[in-house]
Amino acid sequence: MTSQTIPVDPFDLVVFGGTGDLSERKLLPALYQRQKAGQFTEPTRIIAASRSALSDEAYREFAGGAIRAHVGPQDIDGAELTRFLARLSYIRVDAKSGEGFDTLAAVLGNGVPENGGAVRLFYLAVAPALFGDITAHLAEHGLAGGDARIVVEKPIGRDRTSARKLNDAVGRVFDENQIFRIDHYLGKETVQNLMVLRFANALYEPLWNSAHIDHVQITVAETVGLEDRLSYYDTAGALRDMVQNHMLQLLCLTAMEPPSSMDADAVRDEKLKILRSLRPIEGAQVQKLTVRGQYRAGASDGGAVKGYTQELGRDSDTETFVALKAEIANWRWAGVPFYLRTGKRLAARVSEICIQFKPVPHSIFGDSTGTVMANQLVIRLQPDEGVKQWLMIKDPGPGGMRLRHVPLDMSFADAFAVRNPDAYERLIMDVVRGNQTLFMRRDEVEAAWGWIDPIHAAWEESRQPAQGYTAGTWGPSGAIALIERDGRTWHESG
Ligand code: BG6
Repeated sequence: MTSQTIPVDPFDLVVFGGTGDLSERKLLPALYQRQKAGQFTEPTRIIAASRSALSDEAYREFAGGAIRAHVGPQDIDGAELTRFLARLSYIRVDAKSGEGFDTLAAVLGNGVPENGGAVRLFYLAVAPALFGDITAHLAEHGLAGGDARIVVEKPIGRDRTSARKLNDAVGRVFDENQIFRIDHYLGKETVQNLMVLRFANALYEPLWNSAHIDHVQITVAETVGLEDRLSYYDTAGALRDMVQNHMLQLLCLTAMEPPSSMDADAVRDEKLKILRSLRPIEGAQVQKLTVRGQYRAGASDGGAVKGYTQELGRDSDTETFVALKAEIANWRWAGVPFYLRTGKRLAARVSEICIQFKPVPHSIFGDSTGTVMANQLVIRLQPDEGVKQWLMIKDPGPGGMRLRHVPLDMSFADAFAVRNPDAYERLIMDVVRGNQTLFMRRDEVEAAWGWIDPIHAAWEESRQPAQGYTAGTWGPSGAIALIERDGRTWHESG
C-alpha cells in the first residue's frame, strides 16, 4: 500500500539561515524528498539567504553535500538531485542592516513574471533575536503582504514575557493566519495518528476519561548528549527545550476534547483549553511534583560518555532531565495524573504515550490463572512507530485456564511498506497549502509558558541542585520515586 502524493501549488521559499544547521540537517533533505515524491509544481524556487558571501554554485555544492549526508543512500538519485539543486539560488543578506533585501525583492517578484502567482514563504531558520529585524525589512520591501507566509521555530522565548515580545515583533508585520510556528513533533506520523486513533474509531472515546483511565505517561527519551549546541542548551535546559513545546503538545492531543473538525482553529481551540486547564505547579508543590536531573559520566550506545558538565567544559546546574506529574483540572480528567519525563543520555531513544486503563472492577478468575492486568494502550512515536493495545487473553490450549497479557500490535513499518517521512516534509508542505492545523497559535505558546514559568521560578528559588544520574540509565532515582509514591511504575520503554 502506498500513500498518495497530492502536488502543491508552485512556491518561492526563502530560507533565512540557509547555511545553518537546521537547513543542512532538516530543511534541504525534506525539500529534496518532497520533490522526489513528485509533490512540487513548476516553477518552484528555493532561495537561501544568509550572511556569508556565497555564489549560487557554492550554495548548491553545500546543499548537495547536506542532502547526501542526511538522506538515506537508497533515496539519492543523481538526476533528481541535479534537478533539485538547479532550483536553488543564494542571496547574501544582513538581517541587521537590511543589506541584500533589495536584491531579494527583485528576485522574488517583481522581475520574474512567471513566478508572480507563486506562494511566497519565508522560513526563519535563524536565532529568534533576528525575527524582528527580518520581518521589518520584509515589510519595508513590500514582501509581507497578501499571501506571504512566515515560518518560525522554537525557541519562541524563554518565558512568557520574552515569547510575547517575539510574537509581537512578528505580529507587527504578519497576521496570525500568515504565521506558522513549528513544533516538529506535530509533524511526526504517529502524532497525527493519535488524532485518527481517537476520533476515527468509536472504540476509545467512550473510555477516554477519568472513569476508565488510571493515568497517562508521556516519555521522550534520547540517548544523545549535548551535541554541538552548547550555548543554546545550557541557557535552556530540558523543561524549556522539550516540555514547554513538544511534551505539552503531546499532552494536549491526548487530552483535548474532540474538535468539531480538523480545521486549524477548531483543533487549536481545544488544545488551548487543555493548556489553560493544567493545574499550576508552583511554590512548595514544585518539590513534590517535579524532578530535575543532570547526567554524569556513564555509557551510551555501548561506549563510555562524559558527563554534562565535562562535555560543556564548565560547571552548570542546567537540567538535562525532567520528570513531572501534571493534572488537568476539568471534568474529563479530574484525578488522572499525566506523568511526563524527558531527558538526554537515557537508556534508549524512545518516545511514547502510554494510556493506562483502570483494572476490571472484579475478577472472576482464581489465583491460579495468573493476574488480571489492566489494559494499556501504547502509542510509539519513535523508533518503530506504531500502536500496541495490551489485552488479557486465555493462554491457548487444553488444561487449566491461564491468562496472558498480550499486545495487539499495529507496527506501521510492517503494515505499510512506505518510507516514514520526516516531520519537516509534512510541515513545509502544509505551509505551502496554507494549512495551520499542525502549527501552534500564539495563544497556545503563551499559555504553555504561563504554566512553565512558575516551575522555573520555584526551581530558582529553592536552589536545589539537579539530581545526578548516570548516562545510559533512566534518569535520577527521584523520577522513579515520583511515580512509585503513587503506587505506579514507569512503563518499561526501550
Ligand atoms: C528539539 C530539541 O526540539 O528536539 C532537541 O531542541 C531534541 O534537544 C530534539 O534533541 C528531539 O527531536 P527528535 O525529533 O529527534 O525526537
